[in-house]
Amino acid sequence: MASIGQLAAGVAHEINNPTGFVSSNLKSLLDYQHDINSLLMEYRRFITGLKEVALKEGFPSFIAQQVERIADLEEEIDVDFILEDVLDLIGECREGTERIKKIVLNLKDFAHPNEDKMQVSDINNGIESTLNVVWNELKYKATVTKDYGDLPPIKCYPQQLNQVFMNLLVNAAQAIEKKGKIMISTRVLDGRVEIKIGDTGSGIPKENLSKIFDPFFTTKDVGKGTGLGLNMAYNIIKKHNGTIDVESEVGKETIFTIRFPVE
Ligand SMILES: Nc1ncnc2c1ncn2[C@@H]1O[C@H](COP(=O)(O)OP(=O)(O)OP(=O)(O)O)[C@@H](O)[C@H]1O
Ligand SMILES: [Mg+2]
Repeated sequence: MASIGQLAAGVAHEINNPTGFVSSNLKSLLDYQHDINSLLMEYRRFITGLKEVALKEGFPSFIAQQVERIADLEEEIDVDFILEDVLDLIGECREGTERIKKIVLNLKDFAHPNEDKMQVSDINNGIESTLNVVWNELKYKATVTKDYGDLPPIKCYPQQLNQVFMNLLVNAAQAIEKKGKIMISTRVLDGRVEIKIGDTGSGIPKENLSKIFDPFFTTKDVGKGTGLGLNMAYNIIKKHNGTIDVESEVGKETIFTIRFPVE
């Protein structure tokens, strides 16, 4: 595992650099292209005007010919389509680079989980702030029900726990095809904190249950999932001397339960 981590960190670093300049160049390119399009529109208006005048006034023939050639070429290459499509293509490339950036971030987290400090913190607050961060991903997919229990302040790595909540919440939203429910609850039971995050999404087939915490296991489309979210969650919870379990019924629901000792 350590060598996979090192490899991942190395690859992430190498990919980060070129992705950075491709992404910033694409932004400049889009700005330039907007300007070029405006300029071309002016030229084209000018040519159309010139063509009309050339017919009436009898321009020197080389000008009339040139105007004719430009008009023919515009038609031949379907310039209207190109001018529109070029902006779409650049936009799609930018989306692609944003996706690469996200994967690189995940890989980096996987290789070097943030070493933030152990501190006393309010878990319910952590879940709330994480919900705000991922709200955009959830709001169209799910109604969220919350049942926060009375939790004492708990010694933990709060940023890392937030990362866990984020991975579980995003997975829940991604498992819901159209519209569903996400259920969050917390409580203390037998000296342990218990956090449940459930959803009414696709569910997980039995044969996958033993694999979902493995690094790089994903059932999502290429470019959508890296398969590192649950592995990261598992490692973080282990560091808290805790456990993370899953129960799921295909087509009905999935519930993740995290438990770790209250110190
Ligand atoms: N709430 C859920 N409902 C249904 N399937 C789930 C759920 N959570 C996880 N899974 C399954 O477990 C797999 C692994 O999840 P994990 O979060 O590790 O990776 P991912 O979501 O595919 O990619 P990433 O989190 O890196 O973007 C998912 O691809 C999916 O098949
Ligand atoms: Mg995930």
